[in-house]
Amino acid sequence: MTGEMIGISEELDKQMTIIKTFLEHLEYTLGKDKYSATKYDAFNALAYAVRNHLVERWLDTQQAYYNLDNKRVYYISMEFLMGRALGNSLINLGLWDDFKEAVESLGRDFEELLNEEQDAGLGNGGLGRLAACFLDSMATMSIPAYGYGIRYEYGIFRQAIADGAQVEIPDNWLRYRNPWELDRQEHLHTVKFYGRVITTIDKETGKLVREWVDTEDVMAMAYDTPIPGYQTHTVNTLRLWSAKSSREFDLRFFNEGNYIRAVEKKMQSETISKVLYPADNVIEGKELRFKQEYFLASATVHDVLYRFKKMHTDMRLLPDKVAIQLNDTHPTLAIPEMMRVLIDLEHLDWEGAWDITKRVFAYTNHTILPEALELWPVWFFEQILPRHLQIVYEINDQFIKEIKAAFPDDPHRIARMSIVEEHWERKIRMANLAIVGSHSVNGVAALHSEILKKDLFRDFYEMYPEKFNNKTNGITQRRWLKMANPLLSSLIDEYIGDCWTRDLYELNAKLKPLADNPEFLAKWMKVKRKNKEKLCRYIHKMNEIEVDPDSLFDVQVKRIHEYKRQLLNVLHIVTLYNRIKDNPKAFVVPRTFIFAGKAAPAYAAAKLIIRLINGVAAAVNNDPDVAGRIKVVFLANYSVTLAESIFPASDLSEQISTAGTEASGTGNMKFALNGALTIGTLDGANIEIMEEVGRDNIFIFGLNAAEVAELKERRYNPRDYYNADPELKRVLDQIASGFFSPDIPDLFTPLTDSLLNLGDHYMLLADYASYVACQERVGALFLDKEEWAKKAALNAAGMGKFSSDRTIKEYAEGIWGIKPIDIRPGGAEMEH
Ligand code: IMP
Repeated sequence: MTGEMIGISEELDKQMTIIKTFLEHLEYTLGKDKYSATKYDAFNALAYAVRNHLVERWLDTQQAYYNLDNKRVYYISMEFLMGRALGNSLINLGLWDDFKEAVESLGRDFEELLNEEQDAGLGNGGLGRLAACFLDSMATMSIPAYGYGIRYEYGIFRQAIADGAQVEIPDNWLRYRNPWELDRQEHLHTVKFYGRVITTIDKETGKLVREWVDTEDVMAMAYDTPIPGYQTHTVNTLRLWSAKSSREFDLRFFNEGNYIRAVEKKMQSETISKVLYPADNVIEGKELRFKQEYFLASATVHDVLYRFKKMHTDMRLLPDKVAIQLNDTHPTLAIPEMMRVLIDLEHLDWEGAWDITKRVFAYTNHTILPEALELWPVWFFEQILPRHLQIVYEINDQFIKEIKAAFPDDPHRIARMSIVEEHWERKIRMANLAIVGSHSVNGVAALHSEILKKDLFRDFYEMYPEKFNNKTNGITQRRWLKMANPLLSSLIDEYIGDCWTRDLYELNAKLKPLADNPEFLAKWMKVKRKNKEKLCRYIHKMNEIEVDPDSLFDVQVKRIHEYKRQLLNVLHIVTLYNRIKDNPKAFVVPRTFIFAGKAAPAYAAAKLIIRLINGVAAAVNNDPDVAGRIKVVFLANYSVTLAESIFPASDLSEQISTAGTEASGTGNMKFALNGALTIGTLDGANIEIMEEVGRDNIFIFGLNAAEVAELKERRYNPRDYYNADPELKRVLDQIASGFFSPDIPDLFTPLTDSLLNLGDHYMLLADYASYVACQERVGALFLDKEEWAKKAALNAAGMGKFSSDRTIKEYAEGIWGIKPIDIRPGGAEMEH
C-alpha cells in the first residue's frame, strides 16, 4: 500500500470505530433500535461515544496526580455555568472532524444532533461562567485542578416572554439523562446541621474538647464531570454534590412506623441541592441558601482532606499540597469548617490550625454592590451551625486583638473591621471572614481591585497590604471563538494558523497587521454578514420580526440589572425614535437593537425594564414612519448557547454600567473577540480593553469612577439634567405617560420615578447626553464599512490579554504556587 492508501485506510478504521461505538451505545446503553431511537437518543449515544475518549484520559490524569503528588488546586463555586459539552469536548479532544464525518455517513445532520443537548445552566451570569472558563483553561494548561459545586436539580430558570413580560419556567435539566456525569456512590460525606456542642476536658492533656452532637445529617454524594483540556491529554474533574438522606436518618424515621411522614422527611433533607438561587449580584438571605453554602463547603473540605490523607499523615503539609480558591464569599464557610476539622477531629491546636487554614485559602471578590455582600444572621449560626459560631467568634476575638495592636485607640476601625456586625440584629460579615482567613484577596479587573484597596476593604488593605492583588478576568477562546464562530476562526486560521487557540497573544502579533489588508477585510466583512444572516433567521423564527442584516446590530446581552443600565440604552432608542417622528424623511443609520437577559424573579424593576424594552419594540417596529430603519428585539432565554450565536453576529457591544459598579464583565471580551466594537464607560475590564485595542478603536463615554464618586459627594440632582435637556425630558415624559404601555398607562412610572424622584442611583441622566452623542459617532463610523471592519479586526487582534489561560497562569503562579503537569497516554507523566 502507498502512504496515501495507508492514510485513507486509517481514516476509515477511525470512522468505523466511531460508528460502531455510537451504534453500541444506542443499542446496549440506551436500549433503542432504528424504530424507537429519537434524535435525543442519537445525541446521547454520540455523547457516550465521546465520553469513552474522555474517561480514558481522565483515568490517566487522575492517576498521574496521585503518582506525582504535586500541589492541587480546588476551585469552589456555588455556580458553574457550563452550557453544552458535546461540541466543546470534540474540539478539545481534536475529534470534531472525525465525529462529524462519521455522523454524516450515517445520514444524520451533525449540527442538529449537537442542538439536542440541553445547557447545563448551574449559574446566573458572569461569576458562574467565569468558573466554567477557568475549568477549560486549567485543563488546557495542565494544572492539577478540581472544580467543586452543587448538582442543582433545577438550574437557572428558562425565561419565556408573554405579553412583553418575563415568565419563569423551571429548568428541570436532569429529567432527561445527563450523559456527562459519572455518579460516585462511594464518595459520600456526612454533612451535619443543627444539634449542640458539648464541651469536656481531656483527662490526659487537660485541654477543652468540643463535640458537636444530636445533629441532623445529610449525605453529600459526588457526581463527576470530566473536563478535557484543549490539545492535551489532561482531563480534570468537576465534582458536584447532591444531597441524599442518610441511612441513620432513613432508619430513624422509617422505624417510627409512619411511612408517608418518613418519606416526607427524607424528601425534605434532600431539598438542599434542589434549586439554584436565581439572583445575580444580590443576596436573598434565605435559610436554605445558607444550608446550601455549608453543604458545599463541608463536603468539599472533607473530600480535599480525604484525598490528602490518602498520601499524608502530617496535616502541617496541607498548604504544600492544597490550594483552595473561594469564588466569592459563597463558599467561605469552608474556612471555619476547615478549622473545625483540624481542631476537633484532627486534634491540632488553634495556632497550628489557623496557620494552615490561612495558607490554604484564597478569596476572589466579585462585586462591591452593597446588596450583594453576604451577611448571615448570627441566629442562623446558633441554630444550624453552633460549633462554627464558636469558631467564628474565636477567629474574631484574635483578629480584634490584632487590630488593637496595629491601630491602638481606634474603636471605629474595630467596629468597621469586625467579622460580627453589631446592629440590632447581629450578623456575620462573610467578606471580612474570607479576608481574615485567606492569604490572598483579589479583585477581577484593575479598577475593581483598586476600589477594593481604596474603598470597600480599605481598612483591611492598610492592615494586610500583602494579601491584596488583581487578577483580571478572561474567557476561553476555544468556546467563544473557535466553537461559537467557526467562520471567523477558519478565516483567522487561513491567514495566521491556529496557534491562537493555545496562545491568544498570537492574535496581537499576527492579526494586527492584517487590519490593513483589504483582501482580508473583505473576507472579514463577508463572515460577519453570514453570521448576521444566521441570527436574522433565528430572530425571525423566535420573534417573528424581519431584521435587515445590513443594519448595525447594536447588542446588549447580560443579566437585567439597574446598574448595568439597559434603561439608558432604551432612552437612546426612544430618542432616535422621536427624531424620526419629528423628521421622517431625514437619513438615519439603520440599526437593530438586540437585548437578551434574565431578571431575578423577585427583582421588580428589572422585570419592568424587560416590559419596557418590549413596549418600545412594539411601538417602534410597527410604526410606518420608522419604515423598518430601526428595530428592537428582545430574545428570550439568554443562556450560554444563545450567547454563542449572538456574539459572532454583533457589530456593537453595549458595556454601559455606571463607572465603578461592574467588577469586570466578561461579555465585553467575548464581543470584542468576535469583532464587535465596544460602546462603554470606563468601568471594569472596559478600561483594560481600551488599553489593549487603542483609544481610537473603542467608543468611551460618560463619567469615570472618580467623577461618579465626586458628583455623588456634591449631591447629584437628576432633575437638573431633566430640566436642561428637552430631548431627555420628552423621552422620560413619554415613558411615564404610558406611550409604550397604552393598556396600562402608569405601568412604567416606577422606572421614571426611580430616575427623577428617587435619586437616579446609577446616574443615567448624568451620562445620557454623552451616551447619545457617542452613539452618533458610532452611527457615522458604521457608514464607512472598511474603516469599521478595520477597527473590528483591531479589536479581535487586541484580545490576547483576555484569554482565561492568562488569568489562570497568574492565579497559578501568583496565588496557588502550582505548576503544570504534562500528562502522557497510558499514565506516563512529566513535570513541566
Ligand atoms: P479520587 O481522587 O478519589 O476522586 O479518585 C479519582 C481517580 O483517581 C480514581 O478513579 C483513580 O483513577 C485515581 N486514584 C485514586 N486513588 C489513587 C491512588 O492511590 N493512586 C493512583 N491513582 C488513584
